[in-house]
Amino acid sequence: MCGIIGYTGSGSAKEKILDGLEILEYRGYDSAGAFFIDEDNFHIVKTKGKVSNLKDEVKKLEGQEFPVGFGHTRWATHGEPSRENAHPHKVGKVTLVHNGIIENYIEIKNRLSKIGYTFNSETDSEVACALLDSYFKENAHPCVAIWEAERVLIGSYAFVFSFEGYKNELFAIRKGSPLHLGRGSDGFYLASDLTALSPFAKEFYTLKEGEIVEISTSDAKIHTKNGVISPIWEKNEIRYQKTGKLGYSHYMLKEINEQPSLVRSCLSGYIKNGLPNFEKANLSYDALEKIKRIHLVACGSAMHASLLGKRFLEEHAKIPCEVFVASEYRYSPPLFEENTLVILVSQSGETADTIASMRYAKDRGNLTLGIINAPGSTLAKESDFCIYTEAGAELAVATTKGYLTQALVLYLFSVFLSLNSKKINEENAKSLVCTILSVDTTIRKTLARQKELSRLAEKIKNAPSLFYIGRGLDYYLCLEGALKLKEISYINAQAYEAGELKHGTISLIENGTPVVAFATSEMLFEKTVSNLKETKSRGAYTILFSGKFSNDMDKIADECFLLDGNTREELIFSLILSLQLLAYECALQKGCEIDRPRNLAKSVTVE
Ligand code: AGP
Repeated sequence: MCGIIGYTGSGSAKEKILDGLEILEYRGYDSAGAFFIDEDNFHIVKTKGKVSNLKDEVKKLEGQEFPVGFGHTRWATHGEPSRENAHPHKVGKVTLVHNGIIENYIEIKNRLSKIGYTFNSETDSEVACALLDSYFKENAHPCVAIWEAERVLIGSYAFVFSFEGYKNELFAIRKGSPLHLGRGSDGFYLASDLTALSPFAKEFYTLKEGEIVEISTSDAKIHTKNGVISPIWEKNEIRYQKTGKLGYSHYMLKEINEQPSLVRSCLSGYIKNGLPNFEKANLSYDALEKIKRIHLVACGSAMHASLLGKRFLEEHAKIPCEVFVASEYRYSPPLFEENTLVILVSQSGETADTIASMRYAKDRGNLTLGIINAPGSTLAKESDFCIYTEAGAELAVATTKGYLTQALVLYLFSVFLSLNSKKINEENAKSLVCTILSVDTTIRKTLARQKELSRLAEKIKNAPSLFYIGRGLDYYLCLEGALKLKEISYINAQAYEAGELKHGTISLIENGTPVVAFATSEMLFEKTVSNLKETKSRGAYTILFSGKFSNDMDKIADECFLLDGNTREELIFSLILSLQLLAYECALQKGCEIDRPRNLAKSVTVE
């Protein structure tokens, strides 16, 4: 999951590349680099760390303008974050940037070493560059060299190349990693996602696997094995507004605060006359009426949202659902019965594991539905149907509004299936729609309680490890609470089914170990509380997030955070805001890099 941007045109490649890399930085940010070329010479600038470090280096090219260039922001796969391992890589007559993983790079490296190639980095990308050079050496046309290499390379890649002797041109190819061609008023662009294209190019063409794009300062063409074709341009609907943080200290806090207004803006397009309606997604019930089973397939927080979706779908639509971690899906392997709907949930729409799962399911004749935030993404384009979560661009690596809107859409979709399969009547359906829309008021109240959560964060932020416990759907929320805390505050938080703790893991409870219990269901409240008390009797520091299910709430745990709202839905979404703010406050108080946590990237486009 790296970010690539390339440019050829009459504008300033320096400016375009740096602006584009800033937008792409969410994809990886442990090092960055750029390549610029003009009639007379070329420059390669590379730095460890963020794009801002690269900007400082590029400033040294003061006064020089370049019509052609490309840039890269890296999430390390092979080789530590360093200047040497940063892209671009140049070997002989070829310079490239790469997003993806070359699985057979060791074998290729050994073969190339035997014919005299030496390597300065530990990366698979530099090996790919040497391979291209070895084929280009025989004075082949760049496309011939690229297609020769394509036959040898195993893995996923999006490459942008510059070849000696072709100073006005850039070449690109993709296999498994996304790459888009953009046409702007002052030239042509290549980028890993449409958001990075949107400030410059109002039209785009998504490269197909195996096609080679050649762009020059005046033209763009597609080389296929059957000849040269022109791009079929699509309108780039994405509007990237560089709004900045609007006064919030982090993008994550800004995006947490956007959530109350997103409840209606996300759902209103899928509600007609008070009833769920997915015509906007070109999805009618006719296509779904035979569905007997649902697989929900996703990664990370999207998988946690899918677990909530399972509960909503089984409760409302009475359809058996199974949730799979996308990276495991193909290896489970899933038992596809007749009339299985496979739902792929993804904020970025570019998660390689989820894309691979979608293709696996489609290849076996299953209907696929994407619940996606990013328009024009691979999952959005390749799923049979796509419901957009309309959360807007999410720039913090730790998802908040992306996860919340996935849960909202899954809830509404469950009511849609329930109504159309006659499990409920229109009156019930309208009532459930009102219920889910009303959570906006509830989560606004919870947002206003950030100070209370800051105080709780004070109590747990230095814990080496911590447990979240809950039963049923509350356990699913524990998974998200633990992930949020891990990924931005680096506290080793684990989620456990409350009833399971006593079957072994309770041995880890020491004096002062924080245990956080979630209870949004009155039916499960007593049992959850007794599990929490089992930990307290072994020295745990206990915190309860719960609805008001007892008159002695303040006597149950060391700390009690009464959730806002009364309905189960209100309590669930109040808890989502609470766990997000608790994680945020812990990370803030620990001085962590909240928007760009170490080792992470926003979109994991490698398997
Ligand atoms: C969320 O906070 C994480 N950064 C991560 O788990 C994410 O949810 C996961 O990588 C899936 O991403 P996607 O929704 O873009 O597919």
